[in-house]
Amino acid sequence: MILHAEHGSNASSFTARVVTGTEANLHAAITAAVAALSGPAHGGAAENVMKMALEVGDPARAADYVKQKRQNREPVMGFGHRVYRAEDPRARHMRDGVQRLSAEMGQPQWYEILQALVDAMRPYARHGVNVNVDFYAGVVYYLHGIPEDLFVPIFAVGRVPGWTVQVMEQLENNILIRPLTLYTGPEPRDYVPLEERD
Ligand SMILES: CC(C)(COP(=O)(O)OP(=O)(O)OC[C@H]1O[C@@H](n2cnc3c(N)ncnc32)[C@H](O)[C@@H]1OP(=O)(O)O)[C@@H](O)C(=O)NCCC(=O)NCCS
Repeated sequence: MILHAEHGSNASSFTARVVTGTEANLHAAITAAVAALSGPAHGGAAENVMKMALEVGDPARAADYVKQKRQNREPVMGFGHRVYRAEDPRARHMRDGVQRLSAEMGQPQWYEILQALVDAMRPYARHGVNVNVDFYAGVVYYLHGIPEDLFVPIFAVGRVPGWTVQVMEQLENNILIRPLTLYTGPEPRDYVPLEERD
């Protein structure tokens, strides 16, 4: 929960600020933040990591799993980050937790499967694709007996303090957040009346 509490201008915290910028209330901002968090590229990743660990099932199968994903040009869940090019600093603490928990609960295979995936992904680490916090979080939740569909809600409970302080900070000097976008579509064309269209 402490590791998940706050993490700068991530997608869900930014969402909370955008909603606050419209002068919607705190509840609206947090609701929107939860929605952003649920995406598999954000907090939803932990759920997919656990699905991956269950699918791999054996450390010896990790290398083939990664090879297959890379061949299909699909991301391996729990790796990569928009900001970090080295390992997510939170991952170290989660990794220690997974190692301890899986040993204590007599299920060391989960730690071994994750570490085999890390080994298989090592060639990509030099391109900046490293483990993120969600890689280990999924197994921590699983070992605590939390069902997969509650992973995002549990993460959200941990992140509420971070969203709330960012909303409070936003309110100190609130503005409507309205980025300009660059249009890259077709050039203007003549209007063709409906009956003259092919
Ligand atoms: C988080 C994420 C969306 C960031 O994506 P991004 O900012 O586009 O990543 P980058 O621009 O740094 O990607 C650089 C390269 O690494 C690859 N890469 C990034 N994440 C990867 C992953 N998880 N598995 C395999 N390759 C990955 C990209 O495909 C890209 O390769 P390319 O240059 O050949 O196209 C992406 O890493 C991802 O989908 N990760 C899996 C989901 C996840 O764990 N999310 C939780 C984040 S805390």
